Amino acid sequence: MKRKKPLVIGNWKMNLTCSEAVKFAQLLRKQMITTNKIVCGISPSFIFLKDICTILADSAIFVGAQNIHSERAGAYTGEVSAFMVKEAGCSHVIIGHSERRHIFGETDAFINTKVKTALSANLKPILCIGEKLHERAGGKTTLVIENQLKNGLRGIGAEHIQDSVIAYEPVWAIGTGKTASPEQVNEVHTYIRGLLIDIYGKDIARDTYILYGGSVKPENTRDLMAQEEVDGLLVGGASINLESFLKILDSASNFS
Ligand code: 13P
Repeated sequence: MKRKKPLVIGNWKMNLTCSEAVKFAQLLRKQMITTNKIVCGISPSFIFLKDICTILADSAIFVGAQNIHSERAGAYTGEVSAFMVKEAGCSHVIIGHSERRHIFGETDAFINTKVKTALSANLKPILCIGEKLHERAGGKTTLVIENQLKNGLRGIGAEHIQDSVIAYEPVWAIGTGKTASPEQVNEVHTYIRGLLIDIYGKDIARDTYILYGGSVKPENTRDLMAQEEVDGLLVGGASINLESFLKILDSASNFS
């Protein structure tokens, strides 16, 4: 039994075509039966956000973008703004995913501006943080987490943190099939919760969702969700297959 309903979000990354995504969303809407026990969202590519938002309008499934630019508008060829995403019907946006940090060179300062811009557009940011393998091996996990969390949330007041979601995604566990052990996950989540308590106080910190992401599958959902400080999951690869995503939702809903 969790303090709040489990939150499970599928991050589709650069997968599925528009017709595949539309079919997925229609079937998800029809087949998801655990809506009162779980909060669920999907995060499709920009190009079909509006189609998916239309299909899922007035359903229990929210839609989040995978990224936004830090500026509200302007000469940023190829970029997408928070306000565009909001108007398409999104309620959430993933910010600071490790693929953005490490492939596209996003810095903590840039990510912090994006968090602020998202909130100003009434989007709930899903701030991703996580250490690389050599950082864990070098005993630097807590330092990396503390820096990414504090820098990402710099200037974000208590009135906004409850609208935000933190996702702990160890880089070495993403897309590798290597899930962090449930104990390793709980240890880092406990550390993150402690940092949130220091910044925002106990009540607000307890109400803030902390998700785990990294090779989540139907087979490990139960053990991950059984951890005290795991409020939900950010699922990559296993979220683009309807059957496995539904199994994860079903398994997570047992912790409602
Ligand atoms: P995988 O579940 O494919 O490891 O991806 C996790 C992730 O990056 C979710 O944002």
